Amino acid sequence: MTRSRILGTGSYLPAGLLTNFDLEKRMDTTDAWIRERTGIERRHIVAPGETTVDMAEHAARAALTAAGRAAREVDLIIVGTCTPDLIFPNCGVMLQGRLGNLGCPALSVEAACSGFIYALSLADKFIRAGESKLALVVGAESLSKLTNMNDRGTAILFGDGAGAVLLGPAAEPGILSTHLHADGSHLELLRCTGGVSAGFHPEGDYIKMAGSEVFKIAVNMLGRAVDEALEANQLGREALTWLVPHQANIRIIQATAKKLGMSMDRVIVTVADHGNTSSASVPLALDVGVRDGRIKRGDLLLLEAFGGGFTWGSALVRY
Ligand code: UT7
Repeated sequence: MTRSRILGTGSYLPAGLLTNFDLEKRMDTTDAWIRERTGIERRHIVAPGETTVDMAEHAARAALTAAGRAAREVDLIIVGTCTPDLIFPNCGVMLQGRLGNLGCPALSVEAACSGFIYALSLADKFIRAGESKLALVVGAESLSKLTNMNDRGTAILFGDGAGAVLLGPAAEPGILSTHLHADGSHLELLRCTGGVSAGFHPEGDYIKMAGSEVFKIAVNMLGRAVDEALEANQLGREALTWLVPHQANIRIIQATAKKLGMSMDRVIVTVADHGNTSSASVPLALDVGVRDGRIKRGDLLLLEAFGGGFTWGSALVRY
């Protein structure tokens, strides 16, 4: 049976930086509080006019280059994002227009911070089914556009960026398993306030989050998700080489690593420099680990994410 594997990774961070010290000047917070409670020191912010698809294109081209493949060969594009350029066309289609590989299916998946894991799972299934031979999977977000810069509960957390992987068929499995979950009964704990049919608010629509409640549920669900991934593959915790987690909060990452009995030097951590980039956070961390040489071919990686909805999931990957 055909399986899929990661052929190349890429990422992009906008040049603009928003540091904790910048935030101290705007609101009632401190660098020390943000670092201690979240692990974040700075986040990248899009330039005026720079969009989610612009960042997705940079990340996608970097993944294609890393894999030594041409854009025209791509036969499926899936973009995880909750901050699309437009309501339609979707970001996948807009990215396809930029890459010029016209005709193949292209879509975007809105699953908040789990968007990349959802997109990866879908692309893996297309390849397993023989429907795709070269799939571009992207997570890209302009979360700064949805963040109320007067709300210290969210403004300290979110940043912008994009990450991508190119998936292709392989005899030996690269994507060993993916598990996706959602629980739509907690809308009030984490959401963006406006939308097309619910209506936009004239004063603006922003992310609203009950941080400490979300924190507890995230730790619990991610703990279950990593157990589920290992059990499904009949693997013990010691089999893992790297944890590549969603970068929401260093304390959530530490709790998941502890659950796995992994020391933090086996966890790819980018939260200090990237903040929470939602769908982009896992592929960004993956690309950082690949490019700095820590993640090597043959390593066993556990990717996980948790986000608004709630949505959460994992991917167990032989890189
Ligand atoms: O990626 C999607 C999923 N999202 C997440 O996983 C985010 C999960 N949540 C979090 O990361 C954390 O809950 C936050 C970083 C958002 C907040 O940290 P916390 O440790 O849960 O703080 P808290 O909301 O319980 O607030 C503790 C105290 C409060 O003061 P009092 O009532 O104890 O006097 C807050 O008013 O900290 C205060 N506080 C702040 N102080 C300085 C809250 N935000 C700030 C701030 N600066 N930015």
